[in-house]
Amino acid sequence: MNLCGPPQSTAIIFHAKTRVFINTHGLGRNTNIWDNVEEFRPERHWLADGSRVEISHGSDFKILPFSAGKRKCPGAPLGVTLVLMALARLFHCFDWFPPQGSSPEDIDTTEVYGMTMPKAHPLMAIARPRLAAHMYH
Ligand code: HEM
Repeated sequence: MNLCGPPQSTAIIFHAKTRVFINTHGLGRNTNIWDNVEEFRPERHWLADGSRVEISHGSDFKILPFSAGKRKCPGAPLGVTLVLMALARLFHCFDWFPPQGSSPEDIDTTEVYGMTMPKAHPLMAIARPRLAAHMYH
């Protein structure tokens, strides 16, 4: 059953023990919620009033990386912190460049569909250390 569609109130009854998979890929590309869905524009998650699209505690269900409801991920705050820490370290410790002969526009962000959303082609990038050498030991 595909529940993606116009934002209308629909009552759906699930029988006990039903296994439900939320199509988060479809949610992220729902043109009733997002505009220019294929465009990489992270700032879309910052709202005009200075708040942000809620990812784990809200009830707007625009994006659900940690699912929702009683069985949603209890590790969401730790997960977000770990991801941000890992990214911050990569950006703080290295300057990043596309491989020689290519430009940032050449980076292929095509995904492969599945239970998770891996990239179709591995990301190739050159990392140049930007801190003193002893910081990397
Ligand atoms: C970015 C990192 C993470 C993502 C994207 C993520 C995502 C998810 C999702 C989608 C679920 C399924 C919820 C459902 O069944 O509706 C889940 C469940 C769960 N996650 Fe995470 N998670 C992350 C990190 C963590 C961490 C760091 C922990 C623990 C330290 C954790 C512990 C759990 C547990 C115990 C469940 C099962 C909850 C239940 O079934 O009641 N997760 N997670």
